[in-house]
Amino acid sequence: MNLLADLADLRQQCQTWRAQGLTVALVPTMGFLHAGHLSLFDHARGLADRLVVSIFVNPTQFGPNEDLDRYPRDLPRDLELARAHGVDLVFAPEAGAMYAPDHATWVDVPELGRGLCGASRPGHFRGVCTVVAKLFGLVRPDVAVFGEKDWQQLAILGRMTRDLELGVTIVGRPIFREPDGLAMSSRNVYLTPDERASAPAIRQGLLLVQQAVRGGEVDAAKLGLMFRSHLAEKLPMARVDYADFVHPEALTPVARVDAPTLLAVAVFLGSVRLIDNILLEV
Ligand code: PAF
Repeated sequence: MNLLADLADLRQQCQTWRAQGLTVALVPTMGFLHAGHLSLFDHARGLADRLVVSIFVNPTQFGPNEDLDRYPRDLPRDLELARAHGVDLVFAPEAGAMYAPDHATWVDVPELGRGLCGASRPGHFRGVCTVVAKLFGLVRPDVAVFGEKDWQQLAILGRMTRDLELGVTIVGRPIFREPDGLAMSSRNVYLTPDERASAPAIRQGLLLVQQAVRGGEVDAAKLGLMFRSHLAEKLPMARVDYADFVHPEALTPVARVDAPTLLAVAVFLGSVRLIDNILLEV
């Protein structure tokens, strides 16, 4: 497995592969890998001849009061895991190498980035789109794989790739969960033992709503209340940032769950913000 930090070296290696007729898959990450990331690597491994993983805690997608400085990092461990999962190249640049001091170009999909996480994290998706567009420009992958836990991110990157004709196939993969149902996230390590023990209530709330939809309830307001009441009872220390019913691609709010609808939620446990979602089938 190759480890590169230099942008020109990455571009050169990927160009060499393409010249040899090899296809390339990319999985962008911010590192501190968990089983969810590894499942993305395993899937991506089967989609192309070469697998590139980027590990970069992208400063431009963090707000001024967010956790950029304390975001968990462990590159040596990440490299071991990547090697064990058949990754051919890890790209782990310094922030200064990715962004020139006079960096001035941004990629944004404001229509899809305004609601859900975008409402409480202004500028977040602009940072995500910009870094992923840069990675696409460097690697020029045939395919890129992302997790569905960040559903909004996946929808935005799909639209960016389509609108800018970037020629990359975007693949989304199901949420990887702990045995008790908590969605895997690098941020789960911030949870106190009490918070961690109660956090699966978020997933249980989503399943409760799914059950109600299957039972014929279509009123999004009532279903939302059901989720919030469940959390208030089972996870009283939580603060719901949002629990929104939206069209799965357009991400526009829906009032009636009478067609496939995404219920996306963000919940604060102390200072930790956890996200999860469920695609409600009617
Ligand atoms: O999902 C993430 O980890 C990040 O948002 C991504 C896609 C690697 C961009 O920094």
